[in-house]
Amino acid sequence: MTPNPSTNHPAARVAGVVGWPMAHSLSPTLHGAWIKACRDRDPSFEGVYRAFAVRPEHAENAFRSLPDSGLVGVNVTVPYKEVALRVLNEIAQTGKAHILGRARDIGAVNLIRVTPEGHLTGDNTDAVGFIEGLYQAGADDLGPAVILGAGGAARAVAVALASRESGLPNCEDVRVVNRTLDKATEIAQLAKSCGAKTVTANTWSDAGRALEGARLLVNATSLGMHGSAPLAIPDLSLLAPDAAVYDLVYVPRETELLKAARRQGLTAIEGLDMLIGQARPSFEAFFGVTPPDSVDARALLADARPANPPADWPVAIP
Ligand code: ATR
Repeated sequence: MTPNPSTNHPAARVAGVVGWPMAHSLSPTLHGAWIKACRDRDPSFEGVYRAFAVRPEHAENAFRSLPDSGLVGVNVTVPYKEVALRVLNEIAQTGKAHILGRARDIGAVNLIRVTPEGHLTGDNTDAVGFIEGLYQAGADDLGPAVILGAGGAARAVAVALASRESGLPNCEDVRVVNRTLDKATEIAQLAKSCGAKTVTANTWSDAGRALEGARLLVNATSLGMHGSAPLAIPDLSLLAPDAAVYDLVYVPRETELLKAARRQGLTAIEGLDMLIGQARPSFEAFFGVTPPDSVDARALLADARPANPPADWPVAIP
C-alpha cells in the first residue's frame, strides 16, 4: 500500500468517509473506537479512519483517484451515494450477510473498496444497517409497513423490507407516503420488484389510510432532524397495538416521533441503530476484522460530537 502522507501511520490501513459538508459525521468516532479496541486486543493492529470533505465539483474525480490515494476504501455519505455508483468498476454481487449486493436496486453506494488490482468495488450496507435495527428491537415479524419519504434512505428501506434475502420474513404489504406522489410511486414499485405483494403510494393527506393496522412505521425523510422542518406526526393510534416506529433521524437521538411512539406504548427504534448497523460491515471490509464487542457503540454515539476536523483528500484531484 502507498504510504498516506496525511497520517502518521504509514503501515496502517487507512479508510474514511467522503461527503460534503462533513461537519456532522459520527463515523470517525465510531470507527476510531473500534480501531482503538482492536489495538488494545492486538498491539500490531494498525488502522486509521478519517473524514474527508470533498467539494461537489471534485467528487467524481476523487472517487476515480481512490486507487492512487493509498486508502483501502471509503464510506460514502450525503450527497455522493448516487455519484459513487457511476464510477465503480463493479458492484458486489454476493455477501455473506443479508442483502449486501443490492446497491444496484437501491441506486446508491455507501461503501467502496479498492481491490489489490486497483479496481473499485461498491456496495450498500444501509439496508443491512436498517435490518440490524429491527433485529435489535426484536421487531422481526413484519406486517404491513409504512415508509414516510421517497429519497435515497427510503429506497434502502424499501429494498430491505421487501427482499427475501433480508434474513427477516419479507414484508408483503408496503405503503409509501411522500409529499411528491410520483416519487412515492417509484419507491412502491421498487418494493414490488423486490418481493412485496401489495404496495400503495400515498400523499400526506392519505397518511391515515396508510397507517391503518400497520405494524411498522419508518420515517425515512429528513423531517424532525436538527436544523430541518419538524415532522407533522401522523395519528399513531391507527397503527396496530404492537407496532414499531423507526426513525432514521438520529440527531436528536430521541425525536418527537419516537417520543410520541413511546407515549402510545409502541416500540421505538432509534436511527443510531441503523448508523451502527451499516458501519459494522464497512469496518470488516476495510480492516479485515469484525468490530470488537467491547465497544458499546450506542452509548458512545449517544452524546458524541463529531471529533476531528475533516482531512484533505490524500492525493491531488485531477
Ligand atoms: P435522502 O436521500 O437522505 O433520503 P432526500 O433524497 O433529499 O434525502 O429525500 C428526503 C425526503 O424527505 C423526500 O422524500 C422529501 O420529499 P419529496 O420527495 O417530496 O421532496 C422529504 N421531505 C423533505 N423535506 C420535506 C418537507 N418540508 N415536507 C415534506 N417532505 C419533505
